[in-house]
Amino acid sequence: MKLKPQTALIHAPRKAPQYINTIQAPLYRASTIIFENTDALFDRHWTDDYDYSYGTHGTPTTFTLGDNMAQIEGGKYCLLAPSGLSAINLVNSCFLSYGDEVWVADNIYGPNMEHLRNLESRYGIQIKVYNSIDVESFQPTPKAKLIWLEAAGSVTLEFPDLVKLVKKAQAHHLLTALDNTWGAGLAFNAFDFSEEHLSVDISVHALTKYPSGGGDILMGSVVTRDQKLHHQLFRMHAIQGIAISGDDAAQVQRSLASMRIRYEHQSKSALYLLNWLKTQNTFAQVLHPADPENISHPFWKATCQTEQSAGLVSVIFQPEYEITTVRRFCDALQLFKLGFSWGGPVSLVMLYDLKTMRVLPQQHLQQGVLVRFCIGLEDTEDLIQDIQQALKTIT
Ligand SMILES: Cc1ncc(COP(=O)(O)O)c(C=O)c1O
Repeated sequence: MKLKPQTALIHAPRKAPQYINTIQAPLYRASTIIFENTDALFDRHWTDDYDYSYGTHGTPTTFTLGDNMAQIEGGKYCLLAPSGLSAINLVNSCFLSYGDEVWVADNIYGPNMEHLRNLESRYGIQIKVYNSIDVESFQPTPKAKLIWLEAAGSVTLEFPDLVKLVKKAQAHHLLTALDNTWGAGLAFNAFDFSEEHLSVDISVHALTKYPSGGGDILMGSVVTRDQKLHHQLFRMHAIQGIAISGDDAAQVQRSLASMRIRYEHQSKSALYLLNWLKTQNTFAQVLHPADPENISHPFWKATCQTEQSAGLVSVIFQPEYEITTVRRFCDALQLFKLGFSWGGPVSLVMLYDLKTMRVLPQQHLQQGVLVRFCIGLEDTEDLIQDIQQALKTIT
């Protein structure tokens, strides 16, 4: 066919051969995916491992990242979502129906709780809150459908009694969903974390943190081992139109190569900082599950590999330091930037008011303003110097 110039611009006459072997997987950007012929159009099925039919469904770029995340976490199947919170919401909207009871740890990632509260008021889901280090506080009724676990929990960083909680949940036929962002698939294997090879059903991961590692990309994943669960999630993923950009997937895929090294470095820095923070009498308590004095330390020790404990440390200021003073401390920090999130190259700090965040009594925590440090990739001595100079402005 002889083409007019405008058509020739679109239907380029020559295309370089499409396959070469490269270090990084090729980047595909697609909404439309072109079928070879009508057989290819009609012979496909959405449950095929690699069903290339439309951009929302997946491309080689997104399936490559998904396969890698499943492998890193010890699972088999993976779905990607545009943020960690969107991955959490996918699980909630897939498995919870009217009248179901959902069990949530008191220290769960706050927006997960907010999403569940929204479902509670609009769709009659019942939320029950448990203490992640006290299995007795978890008393599922026959209506219980799902338990959310988080290891370690948000902000106060208690490592849960995973073994007892998962055993009890299984005995009562609950689905177990773990927010695995802190462990990142590196600190422990969510699908085989005890001598008895206990496993959660679903692992959700905010790839925004360690897998991205740049502080510049939002993404989430939902990993399972069970094909039936995966297909349920996959269907919900499709009908909700959840999709991620190929560019973002390629960036996260590229960062995976350095994730373990970054995680180890940040874990070590956090442990070093923990020990230094404990020597400072400005703080009533320093919170980190690898600290032998931490109430959840035995659970961390039973589950995690030594020195794999992420880059988060929280402190509770002595009660005489009021919020205005702690704000001055945060404002005086130079290397630690004030911002949400973690797992990136830049160290971050955030203040929290526990009184507005927890519903159960917190006997193991001191009273006082809480500040969470997220360790980046800077030299730890410089970070300590930064905290020292900021402390001088308030003491
Ligand atoms: C434990 C945890 N889970 C999930 C998320 C949500 O991730 P995203 O920011 O990608 O929505 C966060 C974000 O801070 C988090 O800390």
